[in-house]
Amino acid sequence: MSDALYGTEGFYRRELPAAHFRTSAHASPALAHAVLELAGRLAALVGEEGFAVVDVGAGGGELLASLAPLAPPHWRLVAVEIRERPADLDSRIEWTADVEYGVHGLVLANEWLDNVPVDVAERAVGQWQEVLVDERGVESRRALGPGPQLEWLSSWWSAADGDRVEVGHLRDAAWADLADRLDRGVLAAVDYALDRTRQRTGTLVGYRHGDLIDPVPDGSCDITAHVLLESIAAAGERAGLTGTQLLAQSDVLASLGVSAGRPPLALAQSDPLAYLAALSSASHAAELLDPEGLGSFSWLLQGRGVMPGACFG
Ligand SMILES: C[S@@+](CC[C@H](N)C(=O)[O-])C[C@H]1O[C@@H](n2cnc3c(N)ncnc32)[C@H](O)[C@@H]1O
Repeated sequence: MSDALYGTEGFYRRELPAAHFRTSAHASPALAHAVLELAGRLAALVGEEGFAVVDVGAGGGELLASLAPLAPPHWRLVAVEIRERPADLDSRIEWTADVEYGVHGLVLANEWLDNVPVDVAERAVGQWQEVLVDERGVESRRALGPGPQLEWLSSWWSAADGDRVEVGHLRDAAWADLADRLDRGVLAAVDYALDRTRQRTGTLVGYRHGDLIDPVPDGSCDITAHVLLESIAAAGERAGLTGTQLLAQSDVLASLGVSAGRPPLALAQSDPLAYLAALSSASHAAELLDPEGLGSFSWLLQGRGVMPGACFG
């Protein structure tokens, strides 16, 4: 999975996420308004000096491009992405392949963890087996010996025969690594959460040009799996983060002022263009808040030197 997504010929070295699937960052500038509000509240708590908004797995830089005209000029806006910087990106946005150490501010990872590689394990006759897949999509299995995968499974999965599980130890490690780079501020992961009570047969899928396809690791498609945010949160806490909050996107965005309310009809009379613009932004916001769609995404918030809850209180 790692080579298929991030190797020299990997999917994300060549392809823009927006050409294959739709994230909140593509759906609406309302996400940038919400991030502006959250970052503003956080900056008031931790101090404006050296304040940065860091977007991990920035894709085409869509979120920061929407934020750049809104954000105070002294904030740093940092896109972290393995692919090359888009040619037309706002010059105030920094573009880097790695998160720097000593970040002071808000680190946001929208649909990043679901693309951090996982191993797949299946339970049969009381034993865990590792599922291997070749570039044609043909699966094979081998016994899973002692090691980090088995440790993760015994911590996070009450096993039953027939279970198929994406083993999240590399994601936990990626989050802990991010935590180590935060000096003061908040880490926020936004993703589709794995529900262990319902999703016991695996969630790994592929996407290509908007179609849901088999997750064949040949570099031709996105490969993604739901994220067990409880294990991510525990990894963050082991790395010294505190104030864990796990919230639905619809609640987070509503509390940051995103509203799908329609503009008053009187505006259509007095200023038809403003009415149309407000109507369009309400419908975009509705997509982010939709409890059957992007609104059902989860936000994991953890802090260092500040409680994320203080940004919402
Ligand atoms: C699903 S896309 C999300 C893009 C964007 N955040 C959005 O919401 O539209 C995941 C992105 O994370 C990037 N990515 C994954 N692992 C990364 C890493 N270790 N460092 C930098 N970027 C990474 C991929 O290249 C890809 O562009």
